[in-house]
Amino acid sequence: MTEHTGSEPEVRRGLAGVVADVTAVSKVDPETNSLLYRGYPVQDLAATRPFEAVAWLLWHGELPTPDELDALRATEREHRPLADDVRAAIDLLPLTAHPMDEVRTAVSVVGAREAAGLTALEAAADPDVNLERSVRLFAALPAVVAYGQRRRQGLAPVAPRDDLDFSANFLWMTFEVEPDPVVADAFNRSMILYAEHSFNASTFTARVITSTLSDLHSAVVGAIAALKGPLHGGANEAVMETLAEIGTAERAASWLDEALDAKRKIMGFGHRVYKHGDSRVPTMKAALDTLVEHYDRPDLAALYDALESEFVRRKGIYPNLDYPSGPAYHLMGFETATFTPLFVAARVTGWTAHIMEQQAANALIRPLSAYVGPERREVPGPADR
Ligand code: COA
Repeated sequence: MTEHTGSEPEVRRGLAGVVADVTAVSKVDPETNSLLYRGYPVQDLAATRPFEAVAWLLWHGELPTPDELDALRATEREHRPLADDVRAAIDLLPLTAHPMDEVRTAVSVVGAREAAGLTALEAAADPDVNLERSVRLFAALPAVVAYGQRRRQGLAPVAPRDDLDFSANFLWMTFEVEPDPVVADAFNRSMILYAEHSFNASTFTARVITSTLSDLHSAVVGAIAALKGPLHGGANEAVMETLAEIGTAERAASWLDEALDAKRKIMGFGHRVYKHGDSRVPTMKAALDTLVEHYDRPDLAALYDALESEFVRRKGIYPNLDYPSGPAYHLMGFETATFTPLFVAARVTGWTAHIMEQQAANALIRPLSAYVGPERREVPGPADR
């Protein structure tokens, strides 16, 4: 196949506005500010369902029956413990390693173990294989994220608790404290809101890798790498760094003057698709409000509101999900560097749903480019070197 370099093809930088394929996993509608997972409004799912049920929905297309949810929960509990090979690989990394590097490494280890004896082609030919791999990975990630934070604090891993659901157990394994229901509920909502968002950069990365007939874990490793960047998942960490830098609500306006003069991007604001506000923000902001009350931190709420109202007034650019989720995770006790790994633990459900969708109707993803380098020229002869 040749590329058209002679004419002037339309180039959409950043693939902005390009419809790359169809998907039945989720629908983002910027006009109505809505996000549907398999047809259900994400706000309604966050208000009424445990994260495990939403994971099932993303994978299967329907909400689980009570028996199906019980079965998923049983498998999830079975695969919660931190595996020895995963722990050993994480322990090889320096304590200064970014937690996203730990998570990426952990998924590589799981992938190498799970793929043994089965080629990617064989796995792709059997839809059950990748579904089972997805459930096991979803179940295994909380222990990885929790251990990462504990390791940096010089603490040993905490064994999972079978009497707690996914969200409460995640918090238990991180803090070794049974979470207050208010906190577990806010965490559950954040997981659901982060679970899926159509062809965002990390999901698209996973689909590109899958389209070459590579395996599920390799696609997730690539997705984690894409999510790490501050223009994507890394923004929730950057939000907390920004709020810490500003310090108090009174300083928000003067800080913003300097930041905008320096042409800095204000993290946690703006979105490639939503231009009138992110559909997930009101739900996460309500969860943040309950945490502010629970932990009695009106100062943080005032700072949050001050930066938001100043930035929206000046630029007309609205917060995205990372803006309320950053301070929410901070209040729960997570280190700032752990925020993006939490995003991984949620988004792995959406990624794997997309990986399976891509496999079911695959077409190699390989776009064209418009060449702008030198015209054809002769390689200089030896005498000219
Ligand atoms: N802070 C300051 N200015 C911003 C901004 C932000 N967070 N988001 C957008 N803008 C400005 C841009 O500087 C640009 O201004 P210009 O036209 O004068 O150059 C304009 O708004 C358009 O922004 P652009 O970056 O081209 O839009 P995009 O669709 O490519 O970007 C993001 C979307 C998410 C990459 C961008 O809004 C951003 O960098 N946000 C901060 C990071 C973040 O929160 N990411 C998480 C996304 S869920």
